[in-house]
Parts: sequence; structure tokens; C-alpha cells
Amino acid sequence: MILVEDLVKKYGPFTAVDGVSLDVAPGEIHGFLGPNGAGKTTTIRIIAGLLKPDSGRVVIDGADLATRPETAKASLGFIPDRPFIYEKLTASEFLRFHGGLYGMDGDGIGRRAAEMLELFELTRWEGELVESFSHGMKQRLVMCAAFLHRPRAVLVDEPMVGLDPRGARLIKQVFHHMSGRGVAILMSTHTLEVAQEMCDRISIIQKGRIIARGTVEELGRLAGTADERLTPVFLKLTGGAGLQEIDEDL
Ligand SMILES: Nc1ncnc2c1ncn2[C@@H]1O[C@H](COP(=O)(O)OP(=O)(O)O)[C@@H](O)[C@H]1O
Ligand SMILES: [Mg+2]
Repeated sequence: MILVEDLVKKYGPFTAVDGVSLDVAPGEIHGFLGPNGAGKTTTIRIIAGLLKPDSGRVVIDGADLATRPETAKASLGFIPDRPFIYEKLTASEFLRFHGGLYGMDGDGIGRRAAEMLELFELTRWEGELVESFSHGMKQRLVMCAAFLHRPRAVLVDEPMVGLDPRGARLIKQVFHHMSGRGVAILMSTHTLEVAQEMCDRISIIQKGRIIARGTVEELGRLAGTADERLTPVFLKLTGGAGLQEIDEDL
């Protein structure tokens, strides 16, 4: 559903993304795990069509992002790490606006918005201005918008940062609900526990390169340990290089 081949992105002389390939199947929650600065946000922004890669290819539900950008983007939902919402809109107005951007009609938006607001426990606040919302509520509203147009694939950049346990639990439930309906989810995180708990498969990125990929069990075996935690994978695979950075960030 999400296919990424050999993406490269340079900022001046610095290569932030250095040949990243990924594939996320329908119904899969795929973790994109790595320390801060590894290249997760850059990769996700490229897949979302917000940033042009120097080379490589992105295909969403069979549509190449470079040659059929409208089709590719119509199948995609994107939840950025620092979402922007117009504060002077109510939650309902924001969703109407967003649905309009995706060409949904008024009735369709209304029904689907009600469903999403319910799912994300925001129904009570649908008529309130976004400026009165807490961080967690804003994040949930952005997720309502991202799922509104029934995307087949959703990109989420660091969804758990700054959430209280209840908000985090709700988001986990919703992602599982959506993946159960066949939505492919690519979720970046710098937190091992988040990836382990939520993801069917995990791709580990370090310094712009994928250094390992698999289920939690597969990655554990790769590291030659019965311990299911992934830390030993890093120790093994990086051969000690950059360990301090990884220890700090994971
Ligand atoms: N606009 C930019 N200009 C120059 N360097 C950037 C820019 N955006 C990101 N970088 C650098 O690229 C690397 C990857 O960043 P990013 O994709 O944000 O990583 P992550 O999301 O994994 O923390 C970092 O070293 C970061 O400093
Ligand atoms: Mg980031």
C-alpha cells in the first residue's frame, strides 16, 4: 500500500536520507524507529509529497507520487509531528474545511466527521473553538481529519509525544481499529516501547539508513538474544558506533 524505493534527500552537503526503502501492507502498522535526527521526519514528509527527494520513488496504492501526485495523495492521510490547526475554527468547522480540500461533499463530511469525533472522543467539543483545546485534543482532532477522507494509507510522525497515558491508549485503540479495516499505517517514533507495543513490523533507521527490519521477535533473533526488547539489536547492529546517541534517544 505504501511503497518507498531507495529515497535519498540531501540538505546541502549533508545526506539526511540515504537510500531508504520501505513497504507497508494493507492493515499493517509499521514502526519507523530511530533516534532524533535519524531522518524519520524527512522521509515521512517526502512520502506525504511535501518534500522532493533527490532520488528514489514513492508509490501509494499503486499510484506513483511523482507522476500521479493527485491520485497518490488522495489515498493518503498525514499526521505531522507539529500539526497546524486554525485556532479560530471549531472542531466541526475544521473537519468541514479539511473534507472540502479532499473533495468530499457536505453530507459525506457531516456523517464521517461525526463518526471520527465519536471515535476520538471529541463529540462533546465539536462546537468549541480549537484555541480552547488541550494539546492532546488538538492532536486527536488532527487525527480525525487525517482519517476523514478514508485514506488507504496513513503517515504519522511521532504520535505519542506529549500525550497523557489515556490519550496514548486511545490513539493505540484507534490505530488498531483502522488497521483492522485495512488501512496501512506508517508511524515514526524514537521510543522503543511505543514501537514494540503498537507495530506489526519495525524498520530501524539510523543516520539516514535502515539498519534492520522485522517483527519484534525477528529483530530479537537478529540480535542473537531471547530478550524481546530491541536494545540488543542496536548494540549488535551498530557495532558500538553511535551507541551513546542511541542510548540517549531511545
Ligand atoms: N531543512 C533542513 N535543513 C538542513 N538540515 C535538516 C533540515 N531538516 C532536517 N535536517 C537534518 O536532517 C537530519 C534528519 O532530520 P529529521 O528527518 O528531522 O530526523 P528525525 O525526524 O528522525 O529526528 C537531522 O540531522 C536534521 O538536523
Ligand atoms: Mg522527527
